[in-house]
Amino acid sequence: MSGTDIRQEIRRLLRERNAVLLAHNYMRDEIQEIADITGDSLQLSQEAARTGAAVIVFCGVHFMAESAAILSPDKTVLLPRPDAGCPMADMVDVAGLRELKARHPGVPVVTYVNSSAAVKAESDICCTSANAVSVVKSLPDTKLIFTPDRNLGRWIARFVPDKEFIFWDGYCPTHERLTAERVRQMKAEHPDALFICHPECAPEISALADHVCSTSGMYLYCAKSQARKFIIGTEAGILYKLRQENPDKEFILASPALICPNMKLTSLEDLLLCLQTMQPVVTVPEGVRLRAQAALDRMLAVPRD
Ligand code: 13P
Ligand code: SF4
Repeated sequence: MSGTDIRQEIRRLLRERNAVLLAHNYMRDEIQEIADITGDSLQLSQEAARTGAAVIVFCGVHFMAESAAILSPDKTVLLPRPDAGCPMADMVDVAGLRELKARHPGVPVVTYVNSSAAVKAESDICCTSANAVSVVKSLPDTKLIFTPDRNLGRWIARFVPDKEFIFWDGYCPTHERLTAERVRQMKAEHPDALFICHPECAPEISALADHVCSTSGMYLYCAKSQARKFIIGTEAGILYKLRQENPDKEFILASPALICPNMKLTSLEDLLLCLQTMQPVVTVPEGVRLRAQAALDRMLAVPRD
């Protein structure tokens, strides 16, 4: 089948199955192009919670499809590549988190959505990079456990100096490949560019940034900014929409190492096969789902600052 035929067949099957296609901002260009909705983790989980479609096809990684399954138990959630995982999500497990909770009784657990359903179920509230500060501020407690991303945790801790954090030692291997030396070199090569990075980058990288934000925050910031040139410190997939939405501006990836292998797995052929076979389906055991949903619902109820 030619590329055009595959696209047409995917769109036809989406209509036939009453399915909505959600794609994360890091997906391959051709997946973003064909998606009904692209967005960051927060936007996609909000969309999963409110869509009227019978089927959600999630082009992203496993924890994202799990979140959709948690929030929409009456819908079929498909993940075209079941092997698309997230190494950061795998860095925290239920046994380890329970042990940490036992050492800090009564301290609430804030869990980044980049985590398994089982870990969410052990948590008091979830957050994404777009709402993490608002979520933490919404808690009356002065001490909290933040898991799994130590970099996001340290970044938001700056905005809530009155709170004490216990950080889990997880991180995103893709964002941690960006070094301060590389950023300094890029800034020297492009002195007229602003440097923007994701809070999953290490603290020494965020310290060099003109702006630190989630992927959707980057679209807003770059569209509004008077600057013409940007060095981008997050996964390469973000460039597709940045360039499309801002044809008069220049976007340079801070490093060729900023490619998440998991986010790049899903192809149009995988998507077609998934719609033809209605497999693989992502499900979450009901006991886990209900507790994980409570943590996600608490997050979705937090107003943004
Ligand atoms: P956001 O799109 O929420 O900024 O998340 C980044 C990420 O690493 C998702 O895996
Ligand atoms: Fe996980 Fe990082 Fe890939 Fe996002 S970019 S899916 S956090 S490994």
